[in-house]
Amino acid sequence: MEDENMGEGEEKFEYEEVVKATENFNPKRMIGKGSHGIVYKGLLPRTVAVKKASSLDSLHHDDNSNKLQNEIRVLSILRQSPHVLNLLGTSHDSFGNKLMVMELLPNGSLHDWLHGSRKPPPSWTKRVEIAMQIARAVEFLHEGKPMVIHRDIKSTNILFDSHMNAKLADFGLAVMVGSVVESPPSQPAGTIGYIDPSYTSSAKLSPKNDIFSLGVVLLEIISGRKAIDVSKTPASIVEWAVPLIEREVVEEICDGRVAVPAYMAGGVGEIVRLGGRCVSEKEEDRPCAREVVMRITDVAERVRYPLWRSVVMRSIAGMVGFTRNKRSKLFLNTSSHNTSSVITVKQVLSLWD
Ligand SMILES: Nc1ncnc2c1ncn2[C@@H]1O[C@H](COP(=O)(O)OP(=O)(O)OP(=O)(O)O)[C@@H](O)[C@H]1O
Ligand SMILES: [Mg+2]
Repeated sequence: MEDENMGEGEEKFEYEEVVKATENFNPKRMIGKGSHGIVYKGLLPRTVAVKKASSLDSLHHDDNSNKLQNEIRVLSILRQSPHVLNLLGTSHDSFGNKLMVMELLPNGSLHDWLHGSRKPPPSWTKRVEIAMQIARAVEFLHEGKPMVIHRDIKSTNILFDSHMNAKLADFGLAVMVGSVVESPPSQPAGTIGYIDPSYTSSAKLSPKNDIFSLGVVLLEIISGRKAIDVSKTPASIVEWAVPLIEREVVEEICDGRVAVPAYMAGGVGEIVRLGGRCVSEKEEDRPCAREVVMRITDVAERVRYPLWRSVVMRSIAGMVGFTRNKRSKLFLNTSSHNTSSVITVKQVLSLWD
């Protein structure tokens, strides 16, 4: 089978170059630490992020370096996507321990933004945009050949680039399905609060596991509440939000720190209900990633062009006038008659909703 997603091949960096770039993995250059990797900022000569398996003891080190190798294997078969972390290259030390060189995502994680106290919480337009970007990342993985199931979608693995675009990172647990370089069969894995409760054996691996986690992230984005918050009852965001969605009181789910603008209330409600469907107990009741993208894109477009758009469009139409030709095209009659801008009836009507 041909792998359509196949990347163009990452660069191989000399280990000495990486050591120099990170000042010998100087703790001052550490920008993140997860359960299996430590991430450093480096200059190669562009600014990059370098991930190294953490090594508490030899047993954990082997497990952590397997995860890192798996991450490199999966990321190196993916084409570039604006919504997925970009792998730049690899390196290894004299013992063969791999290092991953990736684009630097310098603006923290979604978890920091929603739950940290540093910045004001994201606006509602930004929340819709983040939801759309992450849904697109998941669609990219699920619709690719081979299909990639991420298995660890959560707000700490969603990072922001220099333009504050959200990207899905941390492919340590990801599996490729239907590939010549198929990942070995894996035991269920993920993070408490995000893992699909029906993913109980390796045979139950499915893209719908990611959809469940995506649903948790959608509810987290809208509510500003953590996936698991032991100071609240119920502690699980799913157990808290689903009954509220069923009682049709979605406004109680919305993050009270930022008022929802009236023109966005409908769209935000749609995303909450979509999140509720993603965390359905039965897999078959969950939408696929393509549908999630379609629905959020629809909300995002309405948010981008709210009601005033139709007023402006009507005024422009009134000023310049439209004439309809036989082929059902509308000619926009501008004052300059040298060129006529042609737009289809559908395009105009779509601006009119
Ligand atoms: N490309 C990057 N640019 C900037 N910071 C990054 C980058 N990649 C990772 N980080 C930071 O390092 C942290 C750990 O990275 P990552 O999530 O990949 O490691 P992990 O060990 O797999 O974590 P987990 O605990 O989720 O298994 C991230 O939460 C983030 O703060
Ligand atoms: Mg992580």
